[in-house]
Amino acid sequence: MSSEFVYINEVSPRDGLQNQKTILGSQSRLELIRQLIEANLPGIEAASFVSPKAVPAMAGAHEIIEGLVDTNECEISVLVPNMKGYELANAAGAKVISVVPSATETMNQKNINMGLRETIESSCKIIETAKKENLKTRGYVAVAWECPFEGKVQESIVLDIANQMLGAGVDEIILADTIGAANPSSVTSLFNKCVSEFDHQIFSAHFHDTRAMALANVCAALSEGIRKFDSCIGGLGGCPFAPGAAGNLATEDLANMLSQMGYVTGVALEKLPAIVSYCREQLQEPVGGRMSAWLAKAN
Ligand code: HMG
Ligand code: MG
Repeated sequence: MSSEFVYINEVSPRDGLQNQKTILGSQSRLELIRQLIEANLPGIEAASFVSPKAVPAMAGAHEIIEGLVDTNECEISVLVPNMKGYELANAAGAKVISVVPSATETMNQKNINMGLRETIESSCKIIETAKKENLKTRGYVAVAWECPFEGKVQESIVLDIANQMLGAGVDEIILADTIGAANPSSVTSLFNKCVSEFDHQIFSAHFHDTRAMALANVCAALSEGIRKFDSCIGGLGGCPFAPGAAGNLATEDLANMLSQMGYVTGVALEKLPAIVSYCREQLQEPVGGRMSAWLAKAN
């Protein structure tokens, strides 16, 4: 049993909602975020400053951030795909931004209409600008294990992208399994190389649960010293530009497993089933995750 703290970054307002059939307005998204804050999630990715033509569900990001400017209880972050997104996020008052390079040429093209090299340069430029303007920065590496277009990704490419973003001064690197193709062996292998080269504390993991291996992947990452994870209430989520991307690891499943293993997350487990129900009602669809019904009975 470990009593160490594990940081959960809740991504439902962004990853969870970006590809839903039902589009939620800013007020419904702010209500979701309010409930997540009440449940003591330490971090929340609240919005993305992307083109509303490309991702209609993320329109109105400035309203979300402006509605949260006085939030001190939890770390609110936003995703920015390019410099324009960064400028809009900064103007709205964002304090933490995440850039999103993918590890392959095609995924970058499909996702943000830039090639691999251009995406890395642009991401590094955003990180440097944000640092000068005193924002905290995160850098995803999407398709870190496998790309829906180019197949398996070489570990050396992921390490190189991480290295370049660290050179630009990024505060945290999030390795993302965009289509849920990683398994505990490949997670161990990649994180082992990362922590041999860089400080383990700068890494976080973002697992999609397409093939039901997300919790097992978390255990593999924990064994390599990783103590930060993204997850999504109700197991919602998926990237609209990555065919086969299913829902994220469910926050209630992650928080419950970590708690049973003795880790401290600070998350109020008993409050999670009501948030899962809120998402189900708002989206008018069944949601994923395994632990909500059990937690509701247990409390
Ligand atoms: P583009 O068409 O190349 O952009 O799209 P552009 O620079 O040519 O500009 C075209 C129009 O978009 C212009 O407006 C720009 O002003 C506007 P117009 O003159 O036509 O009226 N524009 C913007 N508007 C708002 N926000 C912006 C922005 N940039 C340009 N930031 C662009 C490039 C990046 C905008 C587009 O491809 C886009 O929005 N992509 C969104 C990608 C996305 O949201 N993907 C999902 C998130 S990533 C993910 O889910 C993976 C993750 O979860 C980790 C994992 O699981 O792997 C993080
Ligand atoms: Mg994702």
